[in-house]
Amino acid sequence: MKVTVVGAGNVGATCADVLAHKEIANEIVLLDIKEGFAEGKALDIWETSPINLYDSRTIGSTNDYSKTAGSDVVVITSGLPRKPGMSRDDLIATNAGIVKMVTENVVKHSPDAKIICVSNPLDVMTYCAYLTANIDPSRVFGMAGVLDTARYRSFLALELNVSPKDIQAVLMGGHGDTMVPLPRYTTVGGIPVTELIAEDKLNEIIERTKFGGGEIVKLLGTSAWYAPGAAAAQMVEAIVRDQKRVFPVCAWLQGEYGMKDIFLGVPVILGKNGIERIIELDLNDSEKALLNESAEAVRNVMAVLDNMNVNA
Ligand code: NAI
Ligand code: 2OP
Repeated sequence: MKVTVVGAGNVGATCADVLAHKEIANEIVLLDIKEGFAEGKALDIWETSPINLYDSRTIGSTNDYSKTAGSDVVVITSGLPRKPGMSRDDLIATNAGIVKMVTENVVKHSPDAKIICVSNPLDVMTYCAYLTANIDPSRVFGMAGVLDTARYRSFLALELNVSPKDIQAVLMGGHGDTMVPLPRYTTVGGIPVTELIAEDKLNEIIERTKFGGGEIVKLLGTSAWYAPGAAAAQMVEAIVRDQKRVFPVCAWLQGEYGMKDIFLGVPVILGKNGIERIIELDLNDSEKALLNESAEAVRNVMAVLDNMNVNA
């Protein structure tokens, strides 16, 4: 299996490191536009192989897409990250041009690849990649929900003093402050979370989750990378190992949840064909209202992209 990660910055290099370390692919190409940067990161990762005992090969490339040819999965992390005071949406003007150019090259050299977009603003950059790639939406989707649920689950594990392994949760909507964690679909070792935690505490955790990205930006001066890189690698693993994992993924909706022509986070089954099925939950009225509000926020940013005519 061959996997390409475009963007050898914080998220891309972390993703490549996890892919190599866990031997998720035997060939991992890291590509960046900055001269020598991807080669340096790929070499540094490769030099951990005798210590961490794996034999996945990591190869770096300065913008030479011929090295990515025939990739089974491509992860797009190229683009600016947030700085303090910026929202994810502030990145659109720069990142749309980057995502478009990268996607054109990816599709040219790896026409059968599954494409996972990570660049922000996530839902709209995934839309941009989809418009550019012109491939079936089962093969182009975005990573956000795996990260956002991981944050939600990690906070719950701290509060309840239990293993994060035992916390399962569904979170839907856009990758922004309107994301929708769903307590009704959150369990701890099979026990509904609402039986273990007071409502006000749970609401605090939901709020912390929604602003989880911003919390890290405030602390670091740039956005997170360990959890995002690991989350993208987990999606790659589900595809290359055909695991049929159930993950929240930013997917193209065509009538599901009463929505059409929008990329939004929903639970899906992820396997060798990419998105193999979108799972439709029977949401109650307040959950539906929150999801609609989140979709509205995503549509507003989609309109900005549409007006930029990037894909004309
Ligand atoms: P970074 O600045 O560390 O890395 C970005 C890399 O992209 C840089 O090395 C840069 O040289 C490269 N790049 C820029 N233009 C390129 C092009 N045309 N072709 C190839 N490479 C190019 O940023 P970081 O922290 O890795 O974040 C990357 C993106 O991921 C940002 O847009 C960030 O907002 C987003 N992100 C998304 C998350 C999600 O949950 N979806 C979570 C964390 C970050
Ligand atoms: C995050 O959630 C900024 O999208 C990035 O960490």
